[in-house]
Amino acid sequence: MLDSIAELRERYLAEVASAGDAEALESVRVIALGKKGEVSLKMRELGRMSPDERRTVGPALNALKDELDAAIRARRTALEDAALDERLRAEWLDVTLPGRPRPAGTIHPVSQVMEELTAIFADMGFSVAEGPQVESDWHNFDALNIPPEHPARQEHDTFFMHRAAGDNRPPHVLRTHTSPVQIRAMQAQGAPLRVIAPGRVYRMDMDQTHTPMFHQVEGLAIDRDLSMANLKWVLEEFCRAFFEVDHVELRFRASHFPFTEPSAEVDIRCSWEAGQLKIGEGSSWMEILGSGMVHPHVLRAGGIDPEHWQGFAFGMGIDRIAMLKYGIPDLRAFFESDLRWLRHYGFSALDMPSLAGGLSA
Ligand code: DAH
Repeated sequence: MLDSIAELRERYLAEVASAGDAEALESVRVIALGKKGEVSLKMRELGRMSPDERRTVGPALNALKDELDAAIRARRTALEDAALDERLRAEWLDVTLPGRPRPAGTIHPVSQVMEELTAIFADMGFSVAEGPQVESDWHNFDALNIPPEHPARQEHDTFFMHRAAGDNRPPHVLRTHTSPVQIRAMQAQGAPLRVIAPGRVYRMDMDQTHTPMFHQVEGLAIDRDLSMANLKWVLEEFCRAFFEVDHVELRFRASHFPFTEPSAEVDIRCSWEAGQLKIGEGSSWMEILGSGMVHPHVLRAGGIDPEHWQGFAFGMGIDRIAMLKYGIPDLRAFFESDLRWLRHYGFSALDMPSLAGGLSA
């Protein structure tokens, strides 16, 4: 019996020594010392031995168990140390190396200008309203007092959506202006009301100053007794804050829009000298928006009683005022995604406009 214990000892010490990883070591442990392991089975045989035999074999088995146990622990620690050393070697990292440069994108001038004008109008109590870019022809035209035969429908160079064969409802359109958001805002919020609606609009048009997709911001204020005087003040305040000049001069020219009565187009005084545009001085005028008092038909389409409420509205080209403010000569470049252009005219993401920082109110 003692011979076989010596044999077990030799065999298992050798296996422990050659176990290459934690898993192999564990299986040696189970085979030797586990509940049904070889050493445990030998322990069980003690019961069948004579007291004398037991007195020699018992301690020898215990000693073997302790020795194997200690050897397994030592081996485990050695394997763990080796694994850690290997990780430290393989995953070594020079934290003093400079970081990899990550090319930062820029904020498109149109996005920047939308943020700027939103901050300015928000300060005057306007909140932002939105509407779909695929719009019903009722919202885009009828509700704005542009019935089917109205010549303004032709002037808008509308993109029409497709209807299934046999579906005779009027097709939806890509909205030709942000004015349909007036209707949606009135229906959703009722009066009184003060909203702006910046967004994309679409017309079939393409030359140096026109692209098939461009941006407008709509403004709408409804209250008991708003007048053109309020409109004029709001627009002047806006222009002073937006163009960051103390003095702006606006010219209201009588005009016609189906959705306003009376209507006015608004020009801003500016000068072009040596290709440099200056706002607020000079002898040129640049048209920047259309506006007027909301037509009673339009109020009614929005669910508002024109006997009790009135308001003003305006629509301004965002791309146009972005070009004016930041001296960008060609509209088409706005939408070509040329990285050189974007890096040159784009804004840092941290350059967020607020009335407190940067934008002079
Ligand atoms: N919707 C007009 C356009 O796209 C712009 C406009 C003019 C909007 C007068 C208005 C307005 O709200 O009152 O040309």
